[in-house]
Amino acid sequence: MHPTPRISPSLLAADFSRLAEEVRAVEAAGADWLHLDIMDGHFVPNISFGPGLIKALRQHTKMPFDVHLMIAPAEPYLEAFAQAGADIISVHPEAGPHLYRSLQTIRALGKKCGVVLNPATPVSSIENVLDLVDLIMVMTVNPGFGGQSFIMSQLPKIAALRRMIDATGCDIALEIDGGVTAATAPHCLAAGADTLVAGTAVFGAGDYASAIATLKQAGKTPCQT
Ligand code: DX5
Ligand code: ZN
Repeated sequence: MHPTPRISPSLLAADFSRLAEEVRAVEAAGADWLHLDIMDGHFVPNISFGPGLIKALRQHTKMPFDVHLMIAPAEPYLEAFAQAGADIISVHPEAGPHLYRSLQTIRALGKKCGVVLNPATPVSSIENVLDLVDLIMVMTVNPGFGGQSFIMSQLPKIAALRRMIDATGCDIALEIDGGVTAATAPHCLAAGADTLVAGTAVFGAGDYASAIATLKQAGKTPCQT
């Protein structure tokens, strides 16, 4: 039996013409965090939004803001995202030459910090920063776009990270980002994830509460191949 996962809907899949309304709707529907994808058109081949939008949305919800930085370099912008209202700031190891320093900077800004592993990025790339990490995010799509298919070959990596986290005895969240649906969520939870990002699976559904409830129940759903 798996514990009920946190659900972090990705705003990328929301209706951009009614963002405040969309944020309030997913909060009312049972979302735990709000996932905010920051893309610069350089680190990833897409451009989304920046700290100004996060600041504008902050007053509309009490949900923790789970900010996923897909920008390079990330370091010059950490303070701006902290001040805008981020609660957790996650960076990719490839986004700059000094991952440890970026994580220290996020902590010094009083925020929780995360690291994100691209599909080709190995577990070993973060084993020496675990003392500074509150969250590990596993990309199960290539970062840059919502609505892509879940990459099943990432499941052993999720399981390896679960073992690594348990060995530390520390409270580190294990979040899955990309292609999470009612069909793929059971695999994520069976591998040891505790937090699921869901863009299309939530904002693309007619009924947000039912979509979130389905993902929260996914630990009790058998894995279908
Ligand atoms: C992709 C983003 C994801 C994306 C997820 O680069 O990091 O957070 O919004 O969208 P879905 O859930 O539709 O795959
Ligand atoms: Zn993301």
